[in-house]
Amino acid sequence: MSEKKSEQQKPGMSRRRFLTYTIASTGGFLASGVLFPMIRFAVDPLLQKGTDTKYVDVGPVDEFGSKPKSVEFRIKRKDGWYMKEDGEKATAWVAKHGAEILALSPICKHLGCTVHWEGGGHLNHFYCPCHGGLYTKDGVNVPGTPPNGPLDTYAYKVENGRLLLGPITKRGGGA
Ligand code: FES
Repeated sequence: MSEKKSEQQKPGMSRRRFLTYTIASTGGFLASGVLFPMIRFAVDPLLQKGTDTKYVDVGPVDEFGSKPKSVEFRIKRKDGWYMKEDGEKATAWVAKHGAEILALSPICKHLGCTVHWEGGGHLNHFYCPCHGGLYTKDGVNVPGTPPNGPLDTYAYKVENGRLLLGPITKRGGGA
């Protein structure tokens, strides 16, 4: 008689299996809600909303020309109630474009490697060595290469002949 019962249950989904699928998919959904913000925070902490980023002096504005120059600095950023004493290390590619200054993040918009000016023999471009990403001098991704958006930019201001870099912002065009 019990054999008859198990045969009757074969065609449809058993209650046990239905509950297993339901619990697994609910657990997966909840886990993704927790993991995604953690990953994003780890990958790109300077893009977090609600942070209070201070401007940082990166040198005399006259030191920058039309050729992108790499500068390292430390950003003091208040994240909620916490601010790291000596700030977070950051890098920018800085160049003059006419009267404007463009301070580009070196973080590739494909998978986050670091781009280099004229790397890999690519003249007049930023090059990402990880998967061959290319960006023009103003940080716009070259179609046909892996990145699907332009490099992020730092806000800037000039005070007393010094260049100060501030919060980083995303530009349009994808990811
Ligand atoms: S991470 Fe830059 S091209 Fe892939």
